[in-house]
Amino acid sequence: MLEEARARDAADPLAEYRDRFALPQGVIYLDGNSLGALPKATASRLSEVVTGEWGEGLIRSWNSAEWIGLPQRVGGKIAPLIGAAPHEVIAADSTSVNLFKLIAAALAMRPGRKVVLSEPGNFPTDLYMVEGLARQGLAECRLAPREALVGNLDESVALLLLTHVHYRTGALHDIAALTAAAHRAGALVLWDLSHTAGALPVDLAAAGADFAVGCGYKYLNGGPGAPAFAYVAERHHAALEQPLTGWMGHAQPFAFADAYVPGEGMTRLLCGTPPVLGLAALEVGVDLIAEIGVARLYAKSRELSDFFLRCLADRGPIVELVSPPDPAARGSQLSFRHPHAYAVSQALIARGVIGDFREPDVLRLGFAPAYLRFADMETAARHLAEVLDKGEWRRPKFAERAAVT
Ligand SMILES: Cc1ncc(COP(=O)(O)O)c(C=O)c1O
Repeated sequence: MLEEARARDAADPLAEYRDRFALPQGVIYLDGNSLGALPKATASRLSEVVTGEWGEGLIRSWNSAEWIGLPQRVGGKIAPLIGAAPHEVIAADSTSVNLFKLIAAALAMRPGRKVVLSEPGNFPTDLYMVEGLARQGLAECRLAPREALVGNLDESVALLLLTHVHYRTGALHDIAALTAAAHRAGALVLWDLSHTAGALPVDLAAAGADFAVGCGYKYLNGGPGAPAFAYVAERHHAALEQPLTGWMGHAQPFAFADAYVPGEGMTRLLCGTPPVLGLAALEVGVDLIAEIGVARLYAKSRELSDFFLRCLADRGPIVELVSPPDPAARGSQLSFRHPHAYAVSQALIARGVIGDFREPDVLRLGFAPAYLRFADMETAARHLAEVLDKGEWRRPKFAERAAVT
């Protein structure tokens, strides 16, 4: 397998991009689906923004360095990665906050309907945001397993809220089919693209999607706590009312008027002052992913995960795959079930293979194709097989849970 890996790396059209990332020696990083790696250009860009734009330009940089337009500019660059027009996407806040704004906006657009339909096991923050709105008396949460979602779309449903790539298993939803089903029932749809943006091609426009959100710190490599993005189809812009009516979403923030008047288009999604340093870092990551191209990244991610599975299979049936076996049915990750998945993940990290653990028993390995090699797949599969064969995960130190992993 190692020979095949080397041959495939030599023929890989994306191989050159690995050098654009600052990766530590001796580490195989299979967690780019949680926190993307650092693009080398980020440090110099941030230093320019900090010392030049902030240090020298001071407050003048809101205009001279165009800080004020960063949410729209960075959003506009994310747009083509998700099949949206530049004016339909804005980079702002966290995914959680954007969920809150858009769930509330959708409920306001469907008076007489209160149900937000989702699935059990959706990413917790998505469900918690609905719960928060339910406590305010504004929403009612309904959960149905994925095979029963369409059957639960009735005249009480205001919004279908789903995550395209499931964070734990990597299983995909069919965006176009579910959006069409929701629309037939008179409901709107909000897609969480946190594990999609920068990894899988999606065409929100072709699917007729209403709303979307997603993280900037995963496959977009925007850095820890990077701003997230929000998408609203242009046809909803005029009617969109979101409840976090902060001054930056005002039509004229510097008029300092007492009454709120929403800004044009996606500007009304803004709430407070844009986080300039975070947006500057995110822009570097987005530029790099856009340069490589999502179609090429997706093609390589499928090849990498398929090759990883073959390398594992070569060593016998050692661990149960939780992700869909069909690469077309999963995102850029593989999840495996093991009763001691946490300890397995820690034993792997001790060997330099960084993946992660998700409750209750899932070892999750993400494949960010911009900086991973086929040889990494062979090595990581070998380490996993050895950790399991040798029972290395049984060492007491691997069972101790840290607060944040
Ligand atoms: C699917 C999904 N949605 C939302 C979030 C939360 O995003 P944020 O921390 O930006 O609110 C995550 C974080 O991992 C996620 O995986």
